[in-house]
Order: sequence, then C-alpha cells, then structure tokens
Amino acid sequence: MDSNKLTVVLGGQWGDEGKGKLVDILAEDCDYVVRATGGANAGHTIYLDNPDNPEKPFKHIFHLVPSGMLNEKPVCVIGNGLVLSLPTMFEEIETLREHGDKVEGRLLISSRVHILFDYHKKVDALQEEMKGKSAVGTTLRGIGPAYTDKIRRNGIRMHELLDWDAFEKKYRGNLEMFKKMYGDFEYDADTELAYYKGIVETVRPMIVDSAKLIYDELKAGKKILVEGANGALLDIDHGTYPYVTSSNSTIGGICTGLGVGATAIDNVIGIMKAYTTRVGAGPFPSELHDDLGVQIREAGGEYGSTTGRPRRCGWFDAVVSGYSAMINGLTSANLTKLDVLTGLDSLKIATGYKLNGESINSVPPSLDDLDKVEVTYIEMPGWKEDINKVRKFEDLPENAQRYVEKLEELMDCPVSSIGVGVKREDIIFK
Ligand code: GDP
Ligand code: IMO
Ligand code: MG
Repeated sequence: MDSNKLTVVLGGQWGDEGKGKLVDILAEDCDYVVRATGGANAGHTIYLDNPDNPEKPFKHIFHLVPSGMLNEKPVCVIGNGLVLSLPTMFEEIETLREHGDKVEGRLLISSRVHILFDYHKKVDALQEEMKGKSAVGTTLRGIGPAYTDKIRRNGIRMHELLDWDAFEKKYRGNLEMFKKMYGDFEYDADTELAYYKGIVETVRPMIVDSAKLIYDELKAGKKILVEGANGALLDIDHGTYPYVTSSNSTIGGICTGLGVGATAIDNVIGIMKAYTTRVGAGPFPSELHDDLGVQIREAGGEYGSTTGRPRRCGWFDAVVSGYSAMINGLTSANLTKLDVLTGLDSLKIATGYKLNGESINSVPPSLDDLDKVEVTYIEMPGWKEDINKVRKFEDLPENAQRYVEKLEELMDCPVSSIGVGVKREDIIFK
C-alpha cells in the first residue's frame, strides 16, 4: 500500500466481491481498520494459514467486527453509521478468542452507533412475509427496521445504554410502537433488557467518539483503512431499489458513517468480482440461467457467507461496474476471483443494454426497464493454465491479461490488484 493515510475499500457490485480478503491484507500496514455502514448482513470471509494442513486453511467470517482484527497491529472501530447487534458482536469476539486472537482493547464502538435489537429481526421477518411475492430476500438480520428507527428518529444509540432508566423506557416504548404496527407479537422484552443491563460495564470502556478519534489520529499521521459493507448496487439511493439494503453502501455512506470529510479520503478501492453474483431477489441483467451459471457457482464456492443461500451467478457486467466506479469515484479496482474463470473456452462481458431497441449505456432507474433490457455482450477467449501461483501480471496467460485490460477500459478504472485464490498470498499487485 502507498503512503496515503485514508483508504476506503468498497463493494463494487451486489456484495460478496471479496472485500474481507483485501482488508485483511491491507490491514497489516494500518493503525486502524474501521467499519462505517451496514450491520451483520455483511459476511466477510478470510482464510488463514493452517500450519498443520496447508491445503485446508482456517476460515473466519466477520459480520460486525472489522476484518482487520486478525492482524496484530490495527485497532478496530465500529463507526456511527452501522446498526449494531451487540449479541452478534460478542459472539464474534468469542470466536476470535477461540482462535487465540487478542481482542481486548482493540475494538472500539462509536457512541453514536444505533443499536439493533432482536425485535428488529422479528419485524424484518414480518415485513418480508407481508411483502409476499415482492419480498426483498433480506438477510433477516433486522437491518431495514433498525435503519427505519434511525430515520424515523426513534433509534436508540450506544451512549444511551449508559443511562439505564431512560434506556429502558425508550426500549419499551419502541417495542410497544412496533406491536401497534405489526400486531401484538410474542416477545420476551425482560430477557433482552436483562442482557443489556448485564453488558453495560463490559461495553463502557469500548465506547468512544469515533469521528473525533479518527480526525485526531489522521492528524497524527496514522493510517486508517475503511472496510465497506454490502455493494454499490445494494445502495439505498444508487442501487436497484427496492431490492437493496437500507443504507448507503457507496462512498457517501462512508463520510456520514464515520464523520470524515470527503477531502480526507486518499484512495477509494472498488472490489469487483471477475464475474457477477447476487444473493436475494431483484434484477440481474447478465445472470446465467443455464449450467454454466451452476458451474461458476460451484467453482467459486458461491454460497452466502451470512445466510448460506446459493448466489446467483452471471457474466461480468461492465455497465454495472462502470456505474459503480462513477458513483464511488473509484481510484482503482481490486479484481477478485479471476482464478474461478480458468478453464472456460470463452468469456462474455456485458458492455451495454438496449431498451425497446435503443442503446442505454447506464443503469436505468426503473426496475421494469432493467428487467427487460436486452444485454449486449462481447466475447473474449479464455485460458486453461492454473493461475493460482501467479504473482506478476506479466506471468498471467495472455488471454487473462487481455481480459483484465478490457475490464479496465470498459469500467474506466485501473485495476490495482487481482485475486487468484482464497489465501492472503493469492494476489497480484499490478
Ligand atoms: P465480501 O463480503 O465482499 O467480503 O466477500 P465474501 O467473503 O462474502 O465472499 C467472497 C468469497 O470469495 C470468500 O469466500 C473469499 O474467501 C473468496 N475470495 C476472495 N478473493 C478470492 C479470489 O481471488 N479467488 C478465490 N477463488 N476466492 C476468493
Ligand atoms: P457483504 O458485506 C450480499 C442483500 C440481501 C438482500 C438485500 C437486503 O457480505 O458483501 P438486508 O438484510 O440488508 O436488508 O438485505 O441486500 N445483501 C447482501 N448481499 N452481500 C452482502 O454483504 C449483503 N448485504 C445485504 O441478500 O438481497
Ligand atoms: Mg459477503
């Protein structure tokens, strides 16, 4: 990584592009790794060396704790822009402890972050049920209802936990409101409240004014790495609304989700899978509905890190990825999972859409339009050589090099690194 101080890593497509792996690699050289958006809908997978069996690396999935935690140096911060389920966070901390990772003193939480309670999960499920056929296919982690509380100005923030009586009153009031809205559902509020009362002293030392901390540390010359969550096409404003998540997973969400000014950001790296995947419902123009889609799913292990659902697979869509590069102002892209495409005779790339016979080279706002676009593809020859051990761009097969260069041209964004396998070392820095 270069000497710049604030680097942001963002999902460039529909999520699960491989953000966790790059964050884990870059974290080695950083003082802080921070999350700014989303919640435990995120599932960021990291494979670690297993000295006893190098062929079977250990797998760790992060949901709320920043993916820098497996490195010894960085302090990890949960920024104000998330919706935070504390039981889920503590479960993650437990798993990390079992691996022998030192978490104490290395995980801080914004005083302004909104708390996601179990009743948000319940309401998430009720809302999906009410939507019936048009259900979003959420992760059922309570994300939408928790952000709704925030925007409705009913949310309960981390600092409020430190004033117990007011906290309890507000909690019970919110639950009553949800029961009025969704019917008198069964809910064990006393057990949940007892849990929160029991963790007050544990979380007290973790709570900080994270915006001020980041500002001061940047001034002191420290390096900060921001770990995006979800993906650009899942962004509440710029994604395929309403089949999106409930926060801004693009660059704007990073500024508000941390309290950093746009001018503080030096690098914005978009993670782009060398093909496209999507979990949940919603349009996906370059989706493969045939055996090839299944073949890519199996080769890439494309099953959700959070829910285990099979991911829908399709060709790289340069319209989608170019749109994401534009919205995010990407300074470069990390192309992941190029190795998964090895062995295919030829590769298609979506380069444009036609709507009612007319070319539209952008993502239309109407989902009906996006559903019925005719996709224009180009086709490029594939490669057969195993690329997992390649560490220099020039050593990739000619056809793989041409494929990467074509994606750079179509996205109008340089590719700075290329993933060729699951492990930390399986990466080419260009
Ligand atoms: P994230 O949510 O963006 O962090 O991505 P996920 O962890 O949900 O899904 C990405 C999956 O791809 C994980 O299982 C990673 O271990 C894996 N992965 C990341 N980069 C590469 C790569 O370059 N090659 C291969 N084969 N797998 C990769
Ligand atoms: P990471 O960070 C892939 C999708 C869900 C659903 C929609 C709304 O691992 O890339 P939500 O639970 O947020 O209300 O669900 O968004 N989704 C993701 N898909 N990766 C993610 O995160 C996702 N986070 C949300 O599948 O379609
Ligand atoms: Mg994921």
